Amino acid sequence: MTIIDGKKVADQIKMEIGAEVEKMVAQGLKRPHLAAILVGHDGGSETYVAHKVRACEQCGFTSTLIRFEDDVTEKKLLDAIKSLNEDSDIDGFIVQLPLPKHIDEQKVIEAIDPKKDVDGFHPINVGRMSIGLPCYMSATPAGIIELLARYEVPTKGRRCVVLGRSNIVGKPVATLMMQKHNPGDATVTVCHSATKDLKEICHEADIIIAALGKPGFVTADMVKDGAAIIDVGTTRVPDSTKKNGFRLSGDVDFENVAPKCSFITPVPGGVGPMTICSLMKNTLLAAKGAVYGK
Ligand code: GUN
Repeated sequence: MTIIDGKKVADQIKMEIGAEVEKMVAQGLKRPHLAAILVGHDGGSETYVAHKVRACEQCGFTSTLIRFEDDVTEKKLLDAIKSLNEDSDIDGFIVQLPLPKHIDEQKVIEAIDPKKDVDGFHPINVGRMSIGLPCYMSATPAGIIELLARYEVPTKGRRCVVLGRSNIVGKPVATLMMQKHNPGDATVTVCHSATKDLKEICHEADIIIAALGKPGFVTADMVKDGAAIIDVGTTRVPDSTKKNGFRLSGDVDFENVAPKCSFITPVPGGVGPMTICSLMKNTLLAAKGAVYGK
């Protein structure tokens, strides 16, 4: 059984990006510039955005953090997006989700210029990804594909079960896993809250990608011997032994599932670090005009 070390791979990719950025700067080009909009003070979002800013430093990017309080109006947020769309110094930007209930998330996503949508959430990027055109790929699915590639996990002709059908993980990763590409070329089943016989379906899988947000949902009896397991879950579970009062829990019962697997990602240290890395890769592509031109 191989534990997939997402942190190690992510650190390596950030070093590769950093080296490329220094070459660009030496040639007189500007540093890639990522902006992030953060609304409110949700603990998870604060942590993610802090990690994104730190990753920019590691890659040699310029970063700008724009903060709004929870009660910001939708209009004000849309105005900020318009300014970033028009700011030629900004190569790409993200709006950290979730947003407060009074703001229409989809409207916000669609207000972002697809050329600067380094999260890959705009329908133009989602659509281009689904038909295999150059695009900004959504960060978590792209990170999963990168891990499967670097660890040479066989996917062609294999049965892949995706647990969860969210727009940011389940649906896009299912699309990528079925693409005629390596990694990919798998026979994909997507399971969700209305799926019947879920345990039996999982038991058929050569690869399980769990993205439900339900701690410990995937148990050993659901997993075939030799399966590869990708755990996307990162639920905060109260834990008084931890300094910050919680620990991150994946969707997989790691302790009991790991001994049966060929490959498995831990939580933390598996998919999570790769997600931020994909965002950095998209920002570099944006700075180079590699997807949509300059
Ligand atoms: N919230 C959870 N994951 C993400 C992400 O990848 N990007 C943004 N913008 N918000 C998120």
